[in-house]
Amino acid sequence: MKFATKTIHSGYDHHQHNRALMPPVYQTSAFAHDHVGEALEFGYARTGTPTRAALEACFAALENATHGFAFGSGMAAIDAVLRATLQPGDEVLAVADLYGGAYRLLTKVMAPAGITVRFADLTDPASLTAALTPATRLLWLESPTNPLLNLVDIAALAASAHRHGVKVAVDNTFATPYLQNPLDLGADIVMHSATKYLGGHSDVLLGLVAVKDAELAKSIKFIQNATGGVPGPQDCFLALRGIKTLHLRMERHCDNAERVAAFLATHPAIEKVFYPGLADHPQHELARRQMRRFGGVVTVYLKDDSRAAASRVAERLQYFLLAESLGGVESLVNHSYTMSHGGMPPEQKAALGIREGQLRFSVGIEDIDDLLADLAQALA
Ligand SMILES: Cc1ncc(COP(=O)(O)O)c(C=O)c1O
Repeated sequence: MKFATKTIHSGYDHHQHNRALMPPVYQTSAFAHDHVGEALEFGYARTGTPTRAALEACFAALENATHGFAFGSGMAAIDAVLRATLQPGDEVLAVADLYGGAYRLLTKVMAPAGITVRFADLTDPASLTAALTPATRLLWLESPTNPLLNLVDIAALAASAHRHGVKVAVDNTFATPYLQNPLDLGADIVMHSATKYLGGHSDVLLGLVAVKDAELAKSIKFIQNATGGVPGPQDCFLALRGIKTLHLRMERHCDNAERVAAFLATHPAIEKVFYPGLADHPQHELARRQMRRFGGVVTVYLKDDSRAAASRVAERLQYFLLAESLGGVESLVNHSYTMSHGGMPPEQKAALGIREGQLRFSVGIEDIDDLLADLAQALA
């Protein structure tokens, strides 16, 4: 089945749900047994519901996986992956340039719980071997990264990590399964903040994980049920509805972002544009190989590297709303320094190149002429 068909038909059989075209919202905390000891497919809603099962199966199909798992947020999904793969004394090696919330979870929750957390620049996959230690159990990757749109070579890193017995997880939020499938590139685990493109309408907080290994699936399922960070059925329904148009929305996000990146690249108020689709992006060739298109997020350094300058542009924008998130139909602008990466220490931000005079644009699916005019007036 091709991608656009999977988004609409995978994971759901209308014959099992009174022929309802859309998976019904099973708004119930439990399911009745007819007798003691009866084995039910669904018993208690933390363990599973038909609505959540439909989402999990659809998502697994999109990532060419065998098992999908839904969580109450992207962070709950990351937390579950870390708990399912690491024990105290184990080490996780993470790509240095990653989402601020993931950095906070690793350093403020996992490290105090006895997990050794290390970060490395893995731009050159050959550097991985030297960065691993005998205690490394998990390699945590994000590609492209939030907010600087750096890529890592997932296939090369996965092959190298596997030679050392290390599992590989990829946060695929920015690419979406439409543009990149990490499991096909050799990763063991793929994770998404479905709050972003998969949900796609800025109306649901949700996380997703998929694997194609039965043992890993068992461990993640155990953590999902044991810790209970699961989404409710209404949120699962919204994510499913969003997914049905993922392929259409992503094409428009990519079209619009390419135009925005090209416009900003020649604008006198802009010092630098970060977008994997630009020929001068240092990993443009890798992006062409690893992704189907280049995504909907564009980040810039303003020439005036001050919070005041970033604030002035953000406040003048009419259609790009100043907000924390990304990946919805509407365009957003984010001041990464104080917003998405507010939880990261200033010295870490400095090391990564996250600046005060920097803005991240989540380019929506509005008319491109209106978006370009909005940027022009805000930067004038
Ligand atoms: C790349 C990435 N991963 C994970 C998350 C966390 O997801 P959530 O906000 O759904 O918990 C985010 C949120 O911005 C993100 O951008």
